[in-house]
Amino acid sequence: MKLIRAKNYKDMSRKAANFLSAQVILKDNSVLGLATGGTAEGIYEQLVEWYRKGDIDFSEVSTVNLDEYVGLDAKNERSYQYFMNHHLFQHINISEKNYHLPDGKAEDIEEECRRYDRLIEKLGGIDMQLLGLGENGHIGFNEPGEAFEQMTHCIQLKEDTIQANARYFSSKDEVPKQAITMGVKAIMQARAIVLCASGARKADILKRVLFGPVTPEVPGSILQMHPRLIVIADAEAMGE
Ligand code: F6R
Repeated sequence: MKLIRAKNYKDMSRKAANFLSAQVILKDNSVLGLATGGTAEGIYEQLVEWYRKGDIDFSEVSTVNLDEYVGLDAKNERSYQYFMNHHLFQHINISEKNYHLPDGKAEDIEEECRRYDRLIEKLGGIDMQLLGLGENGHIGFNEPGEAFEQMTHCIQLKEDTIQANARYFSSKDEVPKQAITMGVKAIMQARAIVLCASGARKADILKRVLFGPVTPEVPGSILQMHPRLIVIADAEAMGE
């Protein structure tokens, strides 16, 4: 594990963006695994800035996102597809056929999960996976208690995750109750993982993820077993 201390959110974002852009510079047709959420926003902002300066070329890059809410599509501003378009895809030269998220509106959710696994396999696997960390230790939407052996699957969101995500919706009742997520096994198959955390509210869980027992009760703790884990956290997140 490589542990990188950042000064603050902006510094964490720059450092993480550095790893992603280095990956793309070293291999122009990289497959990047991407995340949504507050942690990732600053990273995408930085990548867009470097793209505009002419420092990164995404024309050969493919991306696969970790997750999507069931029932929401790209037109819905709360969907992860919308988030990705808004924060990254529409600002860079990635081709529409090369970015992928699970389809939350798929008629057959089970089949959609299998399709997503086949897609990642067809792309040759993920070169670098970006991860944020839920306050309950989730990675993607893999909630505490779920088996580590899962590939892409549909999950019921836990009450604390619904609560945490309610800030993105007009009320808690609007937060979808289900999501499609890459499973822990699928995440662990990425050749490199960049886990980012910022802010004091992540301090306790970050300590448990990195130094506590490896247990499905803390889904992110499995990352301790990954051969190429890079952790970038700011001073507040490293408080513990
Ligand atoms: C999002 C995702 C989640 C978030 C996590 C942290 O695609 O997979 O695991 O990374 O919930 O969210 P933020 O960054 O908003 O604190």
